Amino acid sequence: MSAATERLVADVKNHRCYSHPVFQDWARVAPGPKVVGALFHQIQKFCAATRPGWNFPSALKAIGMEMQSRLMQEIVESEGNHGPELATMAGYILNISAGRVICEDLSDQTAIEAKLKDFSDELLGALPGYDLDTGLSIQARRAIGVFDRRKEADPASTYRNLGTALALEMISNRHLIPGEKYCLIDSGIYGVHLEDPEMHYLLEHWGEIGAEQQHERNAVAAVESVPQNRVALVMEGAVGFLDSLSSLWDLLDSSLLQSGYEFKTAA
Ligand SMILES: [Fe+2]
Ligand SMILES: [Fe+2]
Repeated sequence: MSAATERLVADVKNHRCYSHPVFQDWARVAPGPKVVGALFHQIQKFCAATRPGWNFPSALKAIGMEMQSRLMQEIVESEGNHGPELATMAGYILNISAGRVICEDLSDQTAIEAKLKDFSDELLGALPGYDLDTGLSIQARRAIGVFDRRKEADPASTYRNLGTALALEMISNRHLIPGEKYCLIDSGIYGVHLEDPEMHYLLEHWGEIGAEQQHERNAVAAVESVPQNRVALVMEGAVGFLDSLSSLWDLLDSSLLQSGYEFKTAA
């Protein structure tokens, strides 16, 4: 790894997003079904926005980064079917947390996502700036908006997009997916296992042979050959993404998981 890449990787690891307590708080609070639904809605919307490549792979090619373009295209292609599988997992956990069937058909992505949105609207709808059409908080819209930059094709945006991709894949592989595994499986709250067919989304993403490990390797390889005078743009793209995702975790943590709230035991 080049010295510049090592610095980028270290900066991502040192960002507060990398060790955000949102998933630990999920496991600690063991939230009710409405909160579970609202959390999955916001997470699902964010994850969906990170999947399309838009103009990013072709913009890399246009600045002579053929290999990097291929590495990014590989990530985009491996995301197929992840939306439906995430919905199945969310519906499965929601049903267990409710102790009754809320989502009848766990293969019906549209119906599950509509249910998740209902819970989000109910619990977060009064927040300033919450958009009832999409069910998105300001913070979720900002985190999602970072990926709109992939529609731009100019070199500066393209280098920033490389930084965003590096930070996204590191966070997915080392915080988001392990965090979901921790609160959904390891916590024991839901009594589910990685091998359950409904949990296939996590099995596919987690661990040594998981999709995210490969994505991270691709992203690291793609930033390796960024010219020295463009590294600052890459860093800017990484930090902008990490700041916006931290704000989303802060919001979900404080409004749904009572972060910082101490339960007082009666004297
Ligand atoms: Fe995925
Ligand atoms: Fe990924």
